[in-house]
Amino acid sequence: MVNLTDPPIVGERRPPTITLEGWRRFVQEDPVNLDLLPDDARASLTPEQRLAYDDARIRYHSELVVVKTSTVREVTHQGRLLMLLNQREIGARRGLIVSGAWATGKSTAIKQLGRTHELRVRTQYPEDDRIPVVYVTTPPKGSPRKLAAEFARFLGLPAIVKPRYNVTDIADVVCQVLTDARTDLVIVDEIHNLNLGTSAGEDMSDHLKYFTEHLPATFVYAGINVEREGLFTGVRGKQIAARCVLTRTGSFPYKQEWKDLVATFEQTLRLHDHTTGTLVGLSKYLHQRTSGVISSLSHLVRAAAIKAILDESEQITRQLLDTIQLDHAAEEAMPAPSRTRTRSTG
Ligand SMILES: Nc1ncnc2c1ncn2[C@@H]1O[C@H](COP(=O)(O)OP(=O)(O)OP(=O)(O)O)[C@@H](O)[C@H]1O
Ligand SMILES: [Mg+2]
Repeated sequence: MVNLTDPPIVGERRPPTITLEGWRRFVQEDPVNLDLLPDDARASLTPEQRLAYDDARIRYHSELVVVKTSTVREVTHQGRLLMLLNQREIGARRGLIVSGAWATGKSTAIKQLGRTHELRVRTQYPEDDRIPVVYVTTPPKGSPRKLAAEFARFLGLPAIVKPRYNVTDIADVVCQVLTDARTDLVIVDEIHNLNLGTSAGEDMSDHLKYFTEHLPATFVYAGINVEREGLFTGVRGKQIAARCVLTRTGSFPYKQEWKDLVATFEQTLRLHDHTTGTLVGLSKYLHQRTSGVISSLSHLVRAAAIKAILDESEQITRQLLDTIQLDHAAEEAMPAPSRTRTRSTG
């Protein structure tokens, strides 16, 4: 529940989830919730209170909930299954690769898997100072050293990434810390940065394999269209392919799940004059504007909600949605109607 006395939205900073501190905060924080004030209570707010109330609602809409889409469900289900399968395995453990176009919810899904697992472990072992989950991203133009440094960074061990330590020293320390902390899920995002077509990419892949062999953990990877970008080519690629289950993500077709998604977003709105059902009625329009991409839908709805608070209209209408400019990819596919009009009349 958002409190009117919460600090203002500007200047709020969270540590990134690629550090242990940021990851733990992400895991522990419950999704923001906020109840609308009854009309008479809202009418009796002082101007300062009204500002704080609107600020709290803007902050709420700037986050919005994570929807349990089919992608989130499949990734959490597959991940859990593999972890159970791997728990007694001492040889080649099976991994999971989440692959799909950009902005289709890959990172969201793997983070939800990590969060669910960590919360489960924390409930089971409340006293233990475990690190059940590690979340790192593959460095662009990376090297084994940079990859090892990502793990060290997550663990807050910058001291071991000194020139006098070679890459194996760093990896050994990282593996030891993670084994002691009983890490059983390692999430490696942005795996498309690992290009097996280059020798640096091959080295990094070998190094990742070193981690998978030295850590008794399940590895989950996510990256943009990795099967097309050569992650599975060559001997190394074949080896990865033989050990991993592949889950694909993509844009939503204009079917029931899309309408359900729109309905879920609509239910989360906290606007005073919004007629529930308006957004669902605009499902087709929303699909055309966003090409069925969840990231663009989320942007469109949240931006419209914030605009409706700022302009005091307190409702999302087709007219308002027309004025919202989307990300470049979505705009290229389908320009915002208001911009088309501006162009044709201007
Ligand atoms: N399950 C979900 N519920 C609500 N919003 C979501 C969900 N999945 C994705 N989104 C929205 O889409 C945005 C992009 O999602 P995400 O970062 O997970 O995509 P991605 O596939 O990892 O993108 P990239 O290819 O750029 O790494 C999120 O910031 C969020 O706004
Ligand atoms: Mg991502």
